[in-house]
Amino acid sequence: MKDSLATSASTGQTWNTTAYAAHGRFVATLATGVVGLLNPQPGEHILDVGCGDGALTEQLASTGAVLTGVDASPTMVAAARARGLNIDHHSVESLPYKHQFDAVFSNAALHWIPAASQPTALAAIHQALRPGGRFVAEMGGHANIASIRVALQSVLTPYGIDAESSAASFYPSPDTYRRLLSAAGFTVQSIEIIPRPTPLPIGSHGEDPMATWLTTFRNGVLDRLPPADRAQAIKNTVALLEPVLCDTDGNWIADYVRLRFHAIA
Ligand code: BEZ
Repeated sequence: MKDSLATSASTGQTWNTTAYAAHGRFVATLATGVVGLLNPQPGEHILDVGCGDGALTEQLASTGAVLTGVDASPTMVAAARARGLNIDHHSVESLPYKHQFDAVFSNAALHWIPAASQPTALAAIHQALRPGGRFVAEMGGHANIASIRVALQSVLTPYGIDAESSAASFYPSPDTYRRLLSAAGFTVQSIEIIPRPTPLPIGSHGEDPMATWLTTFRNGVLDRLPPADRAQAIKNTVALLEPVLCDTDGNWIADYVRLRFHAIA
């Protein structure tokens, strides 16, 4: 696959589909819990919101369900379409669908929607579902990647960069998200917070796993640095994190926390 980049206007985060395929594949492979909760059935019409490069959409489609993927990143849309999938290009806040899906699914995407836009996004998802349809999703929850966020905040503050507000991510508690889902018209069947310590892959060329994670998932924040300071800032962040996220065998384990839920429209 050709390298391709797209930048989010709000966070500056870019999505390089080649880097994502090489370093972010665990995002799809660790989704078995939420896929089990979705329990896709042959012939069902399912919308995968924030489908990324379509790896998981393809897996869901292999059950016989009829999948539509949607993503806001043009590069991810292109990568997913290259798999032969039916993929639309929209932000979650502006989904155009009206009561046409039996289920909406989302994995590791909803936390990229800023808190202020969540009500609009959830209303659009609700409108995409037929009455009684299900919304099954997993996203970052409260305290997600806490160590990484604290280390970045500490390293970037002297440069005048507020890493936390630049990332503009939303990691809600179950009670907060239950309220948001209810306000959008959903009946929440289950919602739980799941700590998921996540081993970070070692690059095929022996790249540092944490440095690779930072350049893949936090480039929008790091690119605010003068180019001359970027490498040192990454080094300093990795050094701060090593005592807590790198185990005694040298394995890096990121402190992911998931929020997983099942709601009915
Ligand atoms: C997440 O899935 O929680 C996540 C992924 C990339 C960056 C930050 C969080």
